[in-house]
Amino acid sequence: MIEKPKRYTVTAALIYANGPIHIGHLAGCYLPADIYVRYLRSAGKDVIFISGTDEHGVPITLKAKNEGIAPQQVVDKYYALIKKSFEEFGISFDIYSRTTDPMHHAESKEWFKKLYDKKIFSEEITEQYYDEKAGQFLADRYIIGTCPNCGFENAYGDQCERCGSTLSPTELINPKSTLSGEKPVLKKTKNWYLPLDKMQADIEKYISSHKEWKSNVAGQCQSWLKQGLQPRAMTRDLDWGVEVPLPETDGKVLYVWFDAPIGYITFTKQLFEKKALLAPDTYKKDDWQKYWKDKDTKLVHFIGKDNIVFHCIIFPAMLMAEGSYILPDNVPANEFMNLEGQKISTSRNWAIWLHEYLQEFPGMQDVLRYTLCANAPETKDSDFTWKDFQLRNNSELADIFGNFVNRVMVLTHKNFAGKVPAASELTETDHQLIKLISDTPRNTATLIEQFKFRDALASVMDLARAGNKYLADTEPWKLIKTNPERVKTILNLSAQIVANLGILCEPFMPFTAAKLNNMLNIKPLSWNSAGSTGLLPAGHQLGSSEILFAQIENTTIENQIKKLEQVRKMHELAQKQVTPLKPEIQFEDFTKLDIRIGTIIQAERIPKTKKLLKLLIDTGLDKRTIVSGIGEHYEPEKIIGKQICLLANLAAREIKGVASQGMILMAEDKDGSLKFILPESLTANGSVIA
Ligand code: 2FM
Ligand code: ZN
Repeated sequence: MIEKPKRYTVTAALIYANGPIHIGHLAGCYLPADIYVRYLRSAGKDVIFISGTDEHGVPITLKAKNEGIAPQQVVDKYYALIKKSFEEFGISFDIYSRTTDPMHHAESKEWFKKLYDKKIFSEEITEQYYDEKAGQFLADRYIIGTCPNCGFENAYGDQCERCGSTLSPTELINPKSTLSGEKPVLKKTKNWYLPLDKMQADIEKYISSHKEWKSNVAGQCQSWLKQGLQPRAMTRDLDWGVEVPLPETDGKVLYVWFDAPIGYITFTKQLFEKKALLAPDTYKKDDWQKYWKDKDTKLVHFIGKDNIVFHCIIFPAMLMAEGSYILPDNVPANEFMNLEGQKISTSRNWAIWLHEYLQEFPGMQDVLRYTLCANAPETKDSDFTWKDFQLRNNSELADIFGNFVNRVMVLTHKNFAGKVPAASELTETDHQLIKLISDTPRNTATLIEQFKFRDALASVMDLARAGNKYLADTEPWKLIKTNPERVKTILNLSAQIVANLGILCEPFMPFTAAKLNNMLNIKPLSWNSAGSTGLLPAGHQLGSSEILFAQIENTTIENQIKKLEQVRKMHELAQKQVTPLKPEIQFEDFTKLDIRIGTIIQAERIPKTKKLLKLLIDTGLDKRTIVSGIGEHYEPEKIIGKQICLLANLAAREIKGVASQGMILMAEDKDGSLKFILPESLTANGSVIA
């Protein structure tokens, strides 16, 4: 790689279109990629930002099976949802496309054919599990069985979700097909393999030429290389994906990790087709080649840590085998973000979904962008908590950034009719501040270029913090009475800081940057102009002020925490076994039960018992006493007036010396707690339940 790249090709992982996106996706991959690209654009660099959805592979077919719809319906639904969420959060892709696009199928087939013709692949016949009833080979996730390590009965063919061990389908005890429930048989099948074993030396050389890669990325690569690379099948026996472009390969498709990264290339071609159509004088269809084949292009893949091997070893091996492409220059993968101390999990609904966040915090995209970046899992897993979110908003964004901007705006409007006053004599403090203004863009840029986005954001915040302190120390609101000349200088410098913040915060908080530009009444300025104290000439008329960040109240945060507690509880209950069904009865047996609606009119504890309450019930027929074992679940004074269901013709019996005439019907939850069964609306006492 030469020192200064001429252009940048930046990609962000093609996420599977099998569900909506959550904060973990944003923090791990899309937000850092967007910050990087926005910075490069602002700095006047030639950059393209490519992404889209990965619409093939088992994750899609599994979702389709679970939802009882076709794979195409799954990807259509989630492509639209995912694309919208990214747009709403300001993720500024140049193109957001999809791998089911016919152009991508053609591109992937062409790639496969080219490598096939170059005799890169080895053909291997192996035995794979086959479901005779369903008439198809079974991908790992379509097989369940008992884990040989921990005995868990529902382990998948590739992994046991209880003990976490990696498995292969043939290791499972009592394997079963999830399609038919039948025991699968082993059947021979032919597939085409990328001989990574033979390419090990070249890949080692490539990886060792990138000592600058993040340690988490380099570490994973080294561990793969140390184990010795194995040939990897680039075709699969599956009916959803890009068809293998060879004769007699019915029922086989390209491996999803073969076609997905080629998506980056297809989408670049699509981008330039569009550009050439819209501006034929500036762009040519073939311009895509520069972004993938010129040595002075820097190719950067943003991904999460589960994608490292595919982007650092397998895709580069494909590019090397093809021969005419550049290789990824950097793959700044992040670790994972947890939520309130637990791994984010789609299946357990343990996540903050972007579309739901926006419903509850409308217009607050930048607060989330800020929080996720300030706490990004750059070197190790990080944890999102609602309390931290509140704290960062209230004491950083609102109290420092927002407060500073607001003070500058209000003071300038109040004292100088909103016109930026001219600066005059400068003090030592002013000089120090001017130095900070001038140093910050370079420092921030260096950190962004090193993919240290947390530190880069902190350096922008340090400038806001310095501005806020400057005002707190100089107190222009007091000084205006005694030394208005000095106030002019203070407000001039402060306004220059606000203008600088508008440039520097744009990659991180683009919505806030746009608001700042409006407030300052200026057009967006480029990164290269940052550092100057002459961005706003004396006399420049400012626009009107608005509050950038409102305080977030405790109750708002408590509600979010409660929502998560609810999710946790629902999941715990779902894990528990349902009480087995009782033996069958006849209709006549049921009609013997006389179940009625009644109302509790008195309730008291039975002395010396924990569980028993003595209730007086208005049954519509009479008022009678019933002893009920609900004392650990309800306080007597709180249930008076409640409607209940009771078994009214149960023979009376004596409990703790009290004659109980019937039984209150309760639902017993999986955690053992008892709950009343209530009619949907107020119903006359004595009404029969049938
Ligand atoms: O992990 C995932 O969601 C994959 N679909 C990422 C693919 S990235 C690229 F190679 F396309
Ligand atoms: Zn196990």
